[in-house]
Amino acid sequence: MAEARRPLIAGNWKMNGLPDDAGALAKAVAAGAGGVADKAELAVCPPFPLLGLVGEAVSGAGVALGAQDCHAAENGAHTGDVSPALLAAMGCRYVILGHSERRTDHRESDGEVRAKVEGAHAAGLSTIVCIGETEEERDEGRTLTVVYSQLSTSLPGGVDAANTVIAYEPVWAIGTGRTPTNEQVQEVHAAIRSALAERFGQETADGIRILYGGSMKPANAAELVALADVDGGLIGGASLKAEDFLAIAGSCP
Ligand code: PGA
Repeated sequence: MAEARRPLIAGNWKMNGLPDDAGALAKAVAAGAGGVADKAELAVCPPFPLLGLVGEAVSGAGVALGAQDCHAAENGAHTGDVSPALLAAMGCRYVILGHSERRTDHRESDGEVRAKVEGAHAAGLSTIVCIGETEEERDEGRTLTVVYSQLSTSLPGGVDAANTVIAYEPVWAIGTGRTPTNEQVQEVHAAIRSALAERFGQETADGIRILYGGSMKPANAAELVALADVDGGLIGGASLKAEDFLAIAGSCP
């Protein structure tokens, strides 16, 4: 039931920010969080080295902390990687997994994403699992096939509303200023929820939040978050301005 799903507005800062500006952004988000608390849950996902600083800046403000990736393993010889347990210890509640930029830049497969989701769940993190079609796949009419396949292979068993959020992000809409029509967004979100219901049961599917991501900004947020199966947004560019990020949260129904 839609009423049971509290919208989540998560900021994916990507590879942006140095300590000074990231600290200022986090403080500004924290300062405005109370004003939108009745509309949405907020989360900010800075680059790894800024987690401590940003976590401190938002602490007590009702803004959750998230990371942008993690390794599947608990610890070990994995140079340059970060374990889910460390993220949890740093105060993270969320970790974004399978973002299209990681699927492209680091050739992450659905199978690897699934292993990371399992590792993150084992550490008590809630995962924001990203899926979405390329422009070519949409043009070929394969959007739903692609999304179903990513969903079924990227998600392990044991998924529930507490440990998993899905982010539908059409690759061609990320950072481009282009967005699908509201009808296209709702069609994919409803299809995702049906697929979740088939695998995890209707009650679980009804509780899982499905975010839209890709060029979401204050000007288009209200109509997107008003769609029946859209439960918030994963925000890239617009999350780097506290005012815009908070305005998006404020537009949740
Ligand atoms: P964008 O990025 O809002 O800048 O399009 C969204 C994302 O990649 O999560």
